[in-house]
Amino acid sequence: MRSLLRLDITSLRAKAGLGLITAVLLTAIVTVFSHAATPQQNTGLTPAITTDALSPSIARGAYLAKAAGCQGCHTDKAEGAIPFAGGRALKTPFGTFYGPNITPDPQNGIGQWSLQDFTRALRLGQRPDGAHYFPAFPYTSFTQISDNDVADLWAYFKSLPPNKRANSAHEISFPFQFRFLVTIWQWLYFKPGAFEANPQLSPEINRGAYLTNALGHCTECHTPRNRLGASRNDRFLAGGMGPEGKNVPNLTPARLKKQWNDAELNDFLSSGQTPDGDVPAEAMREVINNSTGQLTKEDLKALIAYLRSLPALPEEKKEK
Ligand code: HEC
Ligand code: HEC
Repeated sequence: MRSLLRLDITSLRAKAGLGLITAVLLTAIVTVFSHAATPQQNTGLTPAITTDALSPSIARGAYLAKAAGCQGCHTDKAEGAIPFAGGRALKTPFGTFYGPNITPDPQNGIGQWSLQDFTRALRLGQRPDGAHYFPAFPYTSFTQISDNDVADLWAYFKSLPPNKRANSAHEISFPFQFRFLVTIWQWLYFKPGAFEANPQLSPEINRGAYLTNALGHCTECHTPRNRLGASRNDRFLAGGMGPEGKNVPNLTPARLKKQWNDAELNDFLSSGQTPDGDVPAEAMREVINNSTGQLTKEDLKALIAYLRSLPALPEEKKEK
């Protein structure tokens, strides 16, 4: 059924006299996925998929999976749920996505996948059969994950106990459930590309940039979009309306509301503690529990150094 709904880019381009209906659909799909960022640093080149495992390490992979928050989206919230066996409901204004089972079960998980399939999913947002993933899966950030790190993640996921939990179908409202619309969205807005270190900046700041943008996918919530859903690189990490329609804070050094020092930022990102005793909103609490709170001291220090190095972007006047 799904494959019947898939269109390829060539046939789309052939129909380039896109009628009004298509234009409306395009706007709709773009709006739906307006929370999925186009990575700021990308070359526009499709990254080569390497299949040679570069000394993969399960332990490093386990750490990377934390830095990238894989578990939160791929584990049901119910008590005693099996890690990575899927079932987590991810609510968006357009419907509910369910993180799939990514344990190595041959039927319900990714047990029959190769490293190449895994790489293609993370880097290009494509299923082994070539269909496109919804950008609720943040491959727009993961496209920047290095070859070495993809190989380590793969080693880790292959080492997990397989679990048979069947996947739940996404509950998405019409017309957003059509996977082929994602083809159009990717074609317009997704530029796969490797992370590029900035030679002008220290290795620490570059490490922080990698943690923030490739693994941590912080931009998914902290970079606002324009009305057509394109990531606003002029407002990179500068906050604004988030994917859930709530305001997300500015992470650049111009942050007006809270001028936290490094120690306070460190406390917040490692444990959720704030100087005034506030509890962070749930979206961020989860990021802290699953991801930033699991980083090594050095990595968290690098991440903070990177945030400090960003160009200061003052708050924008609120749009209605
Ligand atoms: C913000 C939530 C989120 C995070 C974080 C996330 N995923 Fe996912 N992932 C999803 C969703 C949703 C899908 C399903 C997308 C679809 O069906 O189009 C998915 C799909 C996948 C798939 C494809 C599974 C299949 O059966 O086709 C793989 C593999 C995967 N994710 C691995 C990972 C890894 C590895 C990480 C961490 C590096 C990760 N994910 C982090 C939400 C997430
Ligand atoms: C799923 C959405 C989401 C993601 C992903 C996310 N954040 Fe947040 N973040 C939020 C929200 C919402 C708040 C506001 C929390 C509050 O005010 O209680 C926040 C608050 C913060 C704050 C406090 C800023 C302030 O002035 O109050 C920092 C620092 C922060 N996030 C850093 C990060 C970093 C670093 C990452 C990536 C590792 C990240 N966030 C990923 C949603 C997100």
